[in-house]
Amino acid sequence: MQYSTKVMEHFANPRNVGEIPDADGIGNVGNPVCGDIMRMYIKVADGRIVDAKFKTFGCGAAIATSSMATELVKGKTLEDALRITNKAVAEALGGLPPVKMHCSVLAEEALHKAIDDYLKRTTGKGLDVKEHEELVAEHAHDVEHGHEAEACEAPGEGDDLATA
Ligand code: FES
Repeated sequence: MQYSTKVMEHFANPRNVGEIPDADGIGNVGNPVCGDIMRMYIKVADGRIVDAKFKTFGCGAAIATSSMATELVKGKTLEDALRITNKAVAEALGGLPPVKMHCSVLAEEALHKAIDDYLKRTTGKGLDVKEHEELVAEHAHDVEHGHEAEACEAPGEGDDLATA
């Protein structure tokens, strides 16, 4: 499988790995097919994401897309951060093999969930779940369904999130 230099670089040296202990929002997502899991933390000030970190137990593409997604959201308003699609993350990485595009959906979803969590904590009301699910489903639908063929090693029972 051919990965771009940028994907390999973010996989080998992921940015923003770790936790934000006093995070304002946390997003947890998992892909039931491959078993990969991702957790994203955001810190928000004046409506902007001032810091973002992640922990991903998953394939190289999931790690690279988490890394790039956290880079892309830093400094963005919540509105602009919500407009970051999985395709934008993949493009910023110089593209992903079609069979690995679904990994970028995980990054988009983790980000949206972290923002949703922040909104729930601060306003008591999160994102419009139906609208959000439709959006993610739409992006996931665009992705080639090659997951089973390329499924990465699923974490074992009781495995915790590992830092990249
Ligand atoms: S996210 Fe599971 S194979 Fe990439």
